[in-house]
Amino acid sequence: MSAERPDEGLDRFKRHVTQLTEVLALRSIWHAHSAVHILGALSDTLLRMLRLSLVYVLIDPSADLDACDVWREGGEGLGRLREDELRDLLAPWIASDRSPSVGAAHDPLGGGRLAVASLPFGFPTPLGTVFTAASRADYPDELEMLLLQVAVRQASVVLEEQTRLQLQRNALAGIEARVANGIRQLTEANSELQGLQDGLAAELRAMADLHEFSTRVPVTSDVQSVLEQTLLAIMRLQNADFGNAQLHDPERGGLVIVAHCNLPLGFLENFAFVRDDHCASGRAAQARKRILIEDVERDDAFAPHRAIAAATGFRAVQSTPLIGHGGALLGMLSTHFRKPHRPSEFELRLTDLYVRYATQAIERKRAEEERSKLASIVENSADFIGIASLAGQALFLNAAGRKMIGLHDGEPILDDIRSYLTPEDSERLRSHIMPAVERAGFWDGETSLRHIRTGAVIPVLQHVFFIHESQTGRRLALATVCRDITERRRAERAASNAQEELAHASRLLSLGELTTSIAHEINQPLAAIVTNGDACFRWLECDVPDLGEARASLNRIVRDANRASEVIRRVQAFATKGTLIRSSLNVNDVIREVLALTQNELVREEVVLHTELADDLAAVLVDRVELQQVILNLVINSIEAMRPVTERTRVLSITSIQPDAASVEVFVRDNGNGVELQHLPRLFDVFFTTKSGGMGLGLSISRRIIEAHGGRLCAKPNPDCGLTLCFRVPAGGRAT
Ligand SMILES: Nc1ncnc2c1ncn2[C@@H]1O[C@H](COP(=O)(O)OP(=O)(O)OP(=O)(O)O)[C@@H](O)[C@H]1O
Ligand SMILES: [Mg+2]
Repeated sequence: MSAERPDEGLDRFKRHVTQLTEVLALRSIWHAHSAVHILGALSDTLLRMLRLSLVYVLIDPSADLDACDVWREGGEGLGRLREDELRDLLAPWIASDRSPSVGAAHDPLGGGRLAVASLPFGFPTPLGTVFTAASRADYPDELEMLLLQVAVRQASVVLEEQTRLQLQRNALAGIEARVANGIRQLTEANSELQGLQDGLAAELRAMADLHEFSTRVPVTSDVQSVLEQTLLAIMRLQNADFGNAQLHDPERGGLVIVAHCNLPLGFLENFAFVRDDHCASGRAAQARKRILIEDVERDDAFAPHRAIAAATGFRAVQSTPLIGHGGALLGMLSTHFRKPHRPSEFELRLTDLYVRYATQAIERKRAEEERSKLASIVENSADFIGIASLAGQALFLNAAGRKMIGLHDGEPILDDIRSYLTPEDSERLRSHIMPAVERAGFWDGETSLRHIRTGAVIPVLQHVFFIHESQTGRRLALATVCRDITERRRAERAASNAQEELAHASRLLSLGELTTSIAHEINQPLAAIVTNGDACFRWLECDVPDLGEARASLNRIVRDANRASEVIRRVQAFATKGTLIRSSLNVNDVIREVLALTQNELVREEVVLHTELADDLAAVLVDRVELQQVILNLVINSIEAMRPVTERTRVLSITSIQPDAASVEVFVRDNGNGVELQHLPRLFDVFFTTKSGGMGLGLSISRRIIEAHGGRLCAKPNPDCGLTLCFRVPAGGRAT
């Protein structure tokens, strides 16, 4: 290397100072430029100022720079190198640590040597490395190195600044984005909150409406008005355009429109009566639950009604049924909407509450109507109807009851239920009737009320029962219905008198049949009296009157006279129409009395009499004459039945037994010809007779008498021949 001349050195110094000044100015020029531009301008400036063969800026892979590697060449042909060849050339510097370094490399094209200087840039964040190469052996001298360092430093500062700014910008953008996102979220939340607030306000209003409705409807006067109010309330709640309310007609089995809103005549005619229909209300009635049709155009089943829906102007409909206690359909509430629509869950829930209130109100109204109907029936009934507490305190008495016992208008009813009855029945109520009602829940029977003013006895047929709560079955009160049977009693008495008359007539007839034998029975003692009287005279007319014989004759006369008088007394007693007197007596005595009356008849008819009368028979409480009549009827029937019998001895058997402690039985058996089987069931019918002179009364009167005594009378054919008539009467009382 040749030594530099002083002036040459000065020139070079001046040139470098100028270059240095230019390089220092670069920073302000680059300020607003991009990284690509800055690195390109740096490379161009270095190439020119330092007369370089190559500048290569390698960007650090970790650097956050919006730039790529820059490659400039100074005209010696190094630009022909491929990038990998270039990297091979610079490999020692690329691999070295991040510090400025200078060295020599082999020029792969020219074959000479290349002086290389590398300078890393970027602090504190490494941004890259600037590689420079010149074919001059003295490159870089001290000043060039300084220039190189200042230039790279200038670019590095601008790039670092830009990197920092970029980072700040990025951070700012991130913050801005987060703020914007936050604002957006806040706005959304705010509008959501507003919506919620509006919704809550609407719900609150709806609840207030419902509350107001629930206090107003129970006092509404009638069912029609309940339905109208409910319809309007539901329409307001659901914001519906049309609506109608229907009532269920149980007789016709369908729904009838009773209230409507905004619906035209065509609709009302079309749905005037709905049964088994596919419209919403028809379906809801069948399913017993709400039906929602969100769009009638899309609901296939609704197709038949689409035209009327279009004409009316609705697309959606809901029908909610009113189901009463026990599942009965009471009616339907329907709302309609111009557009396809489905009411919200909240609206549907509130609709159900409205419908429940309406249902309760309707049921209450109907129950009130039922009650007032029942009350008017009770008030207008001709029977005594009374209600009392379970403890027996009278609470209510209807008009007929008040009249029956003589209470004046406005006069308070008697407090104690027993005071309505005669003293005997009042006691019976305590001892017998109430225990029976407790046991069975009711009691039926005859009692007597007492007229509070006159004290008159009013015979009634009384029904006493408990009134129960329908749902729980709990006893609520005691009730009674009494029917005045004074008239019936009178009629019964008249009938019984007629029967007594008949029985009397029948007795006279029976006696008629016995006339011959009675006459015979009286004639006998009379004849004996006459005979004894004659004898007595003779004993007295003797020279020496035989007083002993005369006394004996007189004794016989008295005996026979008594006999005759006894017969007459008996006939008289039997024939007299006396009042019935029941007394406790022995059936065997009555049998014997009858046999005494019929004895001659039996002899005349050649009937052999067998009697088997049980000893120690319990007494029975009967009317003597009536029981005589029964036995006499049976005996006469047997005698008459045996009259045609000639081939065998006629036998009449009378047996009395006591089958058990509670009853006495008497059998009257003959061996006559009996009855034809088809007549057997009719024997006791009034006027049934097979005899030419018969009345057909004997057995029917006998049965009535026995039954009036609480017994039974029946007929049974004997196994061989003849008939047995048997009666049973309850034992009781003491024999007199
Ligand atoms: N012991 C008997 N054997 C056969 N038939 C009898 C006997 N007792 C009754 N009957 C039949 O029953 C009928 C009805 O008897 P019931 O005593 O009621 O009437 P009656 O004897 O025909 O007429 P009356 O009114 O005068 O008694 C008789 O006509 C007779 O046919
Ligand atoms: Mg008879």
